[in-house]
Amino acid sequence: MLKFLPPSVSNANVIVGLDTPDDAGVYKISDDVAIVQTVDFFTPIVDDPYWFGAIAAANALSDVYAMGGKPVTALNMVAFPVTKLDKQVLAEILRGGADKVRESGAVILGGHSIDDPEPKYGLAVTGVVHPGKIGAKGGARPGDKIILTKPIGIGVITTAIKRGATTQAHADEAIQVMAKLNNVVDVLAPYDVRGLTDITGFGLLGHASEVARESKTGMRIHSAQVPVLASTYEYANQGIFPGGSKTNFKFLTTREYIHFDPSIDETQQMILCDAVTSGGLLICVAADKADALAADLKANGTLAAAIIGEVVADHPGKIMVMP
Ligand code: CO
Ligand code: CO
Repeated sequence: MLKFLPPSVSNANVIVGLDTPDDAGVYKISDDVAIVQTVDFFTPIVDDPYWFGAIAAANALSDVYAMGGKPVTALNMVAFPVTKLDKQVLAEILRGGADKVRESGAVILGGHSIDDPEPKYGLAVTGVVHPGKIGAKGGARPGDKIILTKPIGIGVITTAIKRGATTQAHADEAIQVMAKLNNVVDVLAPYDVRGLTDITGFGLLGHASEVARESKTGMRIHSAQVPVLASTYEYANQGIFPGGSKTNFKFLTTREYIHFDPSIDETQQMILCDAVTSGGLLICVAADKADALAADLKANGTLAAAIIGEVVADHPGKIMVMP
């Protein structure tokens, strides 16, 4: 949330607005229905235009899922150098986005494009959620277990892709992780899910620390339990990290939002702060339901369903990272 934003206007129907650093805004339409709204777009992170479109769409849709909502409609947002690049490239970007929106069950109603030297693509998405079942960041309670649904390490690999340092197999693996939809709202529904968010540019520990601060709880995260793409280490050991990961690490350690056990090496510390594109969901759930939820997530095809830590009453707003 940016400090120079004008003050939010008070409105009784705004459930989640500018005052909280949440994934999407939520506005109550009736006692049973609230709309979830979000927008996200970025520059190409992979060379293949189809997969760039698919990843950008999965990333934009994710912020609706991260509020416990279901996407309903979407609008394309396109910037493209119309006179310099083949229009077939744009067609492929839009096809990738359209396939993901269709997979989510939502429909694209329209969009807007501008001529721009650097291509950009994303979506404005509207979803729906029951006003009583919003998955905000501030709901975690001491004793809850923390579940992560996708491996991390994406920022390291996308940076290596940009430098031409990856193998095609490693790039393809990261692409499949980023393009995977976080569409598990129906799986979460029977469980008492409290804190909920998705992992993106602020990294696993950055987004987890937002949940800790919003929930006024502490957290313990067990480094060895965190799923990391195996190929990440190959590039991380060469010092390949995106600028955003270094910024995250510095911000989180300087503010003392995170504290690493001294046994955790520097590379692993950086990976835990690594800036992610279209990462998984971070789910806080009652401890006695965590194993069943993790099993349900796995049965529904999530890439990971790892219990990576727990919410604690001690050190509110801070995360202790254990081996
Ligand atoms: Co988000
Ligand atoms: Co977002």
